[in-house]
Amino acid sequence: MDGIVLLKEDHKTVSGLFREFEKSKDSATPAAKRKLVDKIVKELTTHAYIEESIFYPAVRSEAPDISEHVLESVEEHHVVAWLLSEVKKLDPSDETFDAKVTVLIENVEHHVKEEEEEWFPQVRKALGRNRLIELGEEMAAAKKDAPADPLALMSAKS
Ligand SMILES: [Fe+2]
Ligand SMILES: [Fe+2]
Repeated sequence: MDGIVLLKEDHKTVSGLFREFEKSKDSATPAAKRKLVDKIVKELTTHAYIEESIFYPAVRSEAPDISEHVLESVEEHHVVAWLLSEVKKLDPSDETFDAKVTVLIENVEHHVKEEEEEWFPQVRKALGRNRLIELGEEMAAAKKDAPADPLALMSAKS
């Protein structure tokens, strides 16, 4: 699969989970919230991992003109990784829980919009179809190596 298509599929999965959280947050039990947010944490940590370990470095070396966007994206991942680590250990019945998840959603949506609208189209042009398919295969295979802890992401430490 084309790497950009794969990343956009992940974005869609996550946005579905976000909508589910928004719809159920006032009625869901703490246990149901825990389960849903754990799923969000896992999806986002895995997605950030394959971007940071494969896609972003490839873009920086093969399309240096896009480096500035990649650097900004890593800083956005940094913020998201720390938010993920907080919601991962926070009790869903804590009064700050929904607020933290909401801020997480806002951050991710801003980030995804920039990726999809501002720089992924430039990557497609610069790297071409064959290279994107190679990267897609590499990223699909790397998902199983993703850490469970968001703070183990490279961006969390940068
Ligand atoms: Fe990203
Ligand atoms: Fe992404």
